[in-house]
Amino acid sequence: MSVQTAQAIPKPPEHVAIIMDGNGRWAAARRKPRSFGHRQGVMAVRRCVEAAGNLGIRYLTIYSFSTENWRRPKSEIKALFDLMRNFVEKDVERLRNNGVRVRILGERANLAADMIKLIEDVERQTQDNERLFLNIAFNYGGRDELTRAFAGLAAKVKSGALALEKISESDISSQLDTAFMPDPDIVLRTSGEQRLSNFLLWQSAYSEFVVLDVLWPDFTQEHFEEALQIYARRERRQGGADV
Ligand code: IPE
Ligand code: IPE
Ligand code: MG
Repeated sequence: MSVQTAQAIPKPPEHVAIIMDGNGRWAAARRKPRSFGHRQGVMAVRRCVEAAGNLGIRYLTIYSFSTENWRRPKSEIKALFDLMRNFVEKDVERLRNNGVRVRILGERANLAADMIKLIEDVERQTQDNERLFLNIAFNYGGRDELTRAFAGLAAKVKSGALALEKISESDISSQLDTAFMPDPDIVLRTSGEQRLSNFLLWQSAYSEFVVLDVLWPDFTQEHFEEALQIYARRERRQGGADV
């Protein structure tokens, strides 16, 4: 990864979360199978991680498989899982050497044992890094995450570790897969679709939503910069008023 700073861009956001969308349409436009689009999508992930580093982003969260993506054909699910395995295995060394700390968000209980081991390995092997925090949301759903968080809180209340009347927003935040990370400043979605699709429901309460028309496999650092420019023009009021 080259180290260059983006002087032209004011107040870079700390945390950018991306709904990587449009692999299927990208492939269809080329009369190729959807898996071909997903393979090209992995190249875009590599460009995106590098761009995040170049642009001084601290936290990058990418949505790679949702709890609803289980509704897709078995062959496509297998292709997506194979790509995830491949990415983690092949890229761990480079990520580690580039100061990237990888964490996988999402439910693990129903994943295969070898997949869980891969996830734990990549997290352990990069745990001392702090240049860029890369979160990969895999088998992730915002409602699933909240459901697990509430169960965790209920267990604490039941055991007496937490008093029912003391439950705070930060107690909920700290039960989430993103515990102790800042909320995303930007939620960026490619492919023009304007919805959250169950991504970071709690954390995106005050994120700026940016939609780009590019399909994910075509995503480059220029698109990342475009999103940052759009963000820089937004006025973040967070419930306050201009006085
Ligand atoms: C995003 O591309 C990748 C995943 C959701 C895993 P899609 O596969 O959703 O592509 P489109 O939206 O059908 O074009
Ligand atoms: C959201 O994209 C999930 C990921 C990018 C992993 P989808 O393509 O699955 O979302 P919908 O179905 O268009 O809402
Ligand atoms: Mg899609």
